[in-house]
Amino acid sequence: MDKFLIEGGHSLKGEVKVKGAKNSALPILATTLLCEDEFTIENVPLLRDIFTIKKVLEVLGASVTLDGNKAIVDTRGAVGYEAPYELVKQMRASYYVLGPLLARVGRALVSLPGGCAIGTRPIDIHLRGLKKLKADISITHGYIDAYGNNLKGSHIFLEGQNGPSVGATINVMAAATLAKGVTVIEGAAMEPEVTDVANFLNKCGAKIKGQGTRSIEIRGVKKLHGCEYEIIPDRIEAGTLAVGAAISRGEIFLKGAKTEHLEEFISKLKEVGVDVFSEKDGFAVKMDKDIGSTDIETAPFPGFPTDMQAQFTALLCLSNGVSIVREKIFEERFMHVLELVRMGADIKRENDYVIIKGVPCLYGAKVMASDLRASAALVLAGLSASGTTEVGRIYHIDRGYENIEERLRNLGAHIWRQEE
Ligand code: EPZ
Repeated sequence: MDKFLIEGGHSLKGEVKVKGAKNSALPILATTLLCEDEFTIENVPLLRDIFTIKKVLEVLGASVTLDGNKAIVDTRGAVGYEAPYELVKQMRASYYVLGPLLARVGRALVSLPGGCAIGTRPIDIHLRGLKKLKADISITHGYIDAYGNNLKGSHIFLEGQNGPSVGATINVMAAATLAKGVTVIEGAAMEPEVTDVANFLNKCGAKIKGQGTRSIEIRGVKKLHGCEYEIIPDRIEAGTLAVGAAISRGEIFLKGAKTEHLEEFISKLKEVGVDVFSEKDGFAVKMDKDIGSTDIETAPFPGFPTDMQAQFTALLCLSNGVSIVREKIFEERFMHVLELVRMGADIKRENDYVIIKGVPCLYGAKVMASDLRASAALVLAGLSASGTTEVGRIYHIDRGYENIEERLRNLGAHIWRQEE
């Protein structure tokens, strides 16, 4: 396993192109299974998770060619219907093939995804929604065993006790594109990635309206077809790099980033003293003063994104006051806290929130990555820490950030990868 070595104290400066959104690319690649045709998908980030979904599609008989950040997908040979445990355990988002397989093949055998470091991550809302479309679903030997030869449109309320589900909204929306009649999903997730998948499906001939609101209407069609599509920029990568500039007191331009995908996050950045300048094709972030404190509560879009909580927590460790960060989406998304404490942070966890007392500086230490965004938070802390930080198990980071160490080095960070 690889590790990162980071020598702190170097400000990030310059311009960086934001890559395509991981959480759009994964479902969009999976929904190509809704028809047998060819697709050209631009702005696909080259991440571990993309290589995993590529393997899942290939196991199902599709072909996926990656040419830089362009994916050419050919599903004309896709006849399989089983997503095996070996692949699903590597990446839970493999369950995105469930809805498309049910709708096109009428059959799906998908391994139940395990839990993960940030929480139990059940998929009851996915299954409830698909059953409302008249799919016949049972769980046998750790697999979701699903039949759905003639899915029927339905009026579905899809929220869970933790609010709307991004994954379930996308899985049900995808299946509904080929169901007979009209489906309305109430309590739909509004994340930009859900909108991106809906826009992709409409380019494939689907009839979806209301994406980006709590209520999405899908009129079933007989068949879909291939298309050319460009994935939206990754708002979480943009946010992560923005925190990198703030925590290292630097100034960077995030080329391609869309401020409308990060409004609540940007208003919190401004609240702690960061200057943010919106431009035509991106936004600039500049920090040249003390980091202020603030309180954060994660929420479904358009609220503060849970995927930015760990990174913002790292920034607040260096504030000139006391901050409260409450994680309302995932029950265990505080794996970064004890590692930040080992770097000198003053953080106390109380159930679903942490109290962060700002300290003048963090100190380099050997720390361990545990999940994607917690690992990113440790890298950000290392950028500002005095001395050298060693972040182990960085395969977690490679799941969600393309070539991050080279892109950070191009911005002035002293970071390099080493075999562990
Ligand atoms: C997506 O996960 C993202 N992953 C996550 O990003 C992101 O944190 C999450 O949405 C919330 O925005 C991908 O898009 C691949 P949810 P997803 O269903 O769809 C509960 C990252 O770092 N729930 O919106 O799995 C769930 O436990 C990853 O890039 C159920 O109870 O999230 C959570 O509490 C991490 N039953 C809440 O809903 C279900 O069937 C929201 O989860 C599904 C979810």
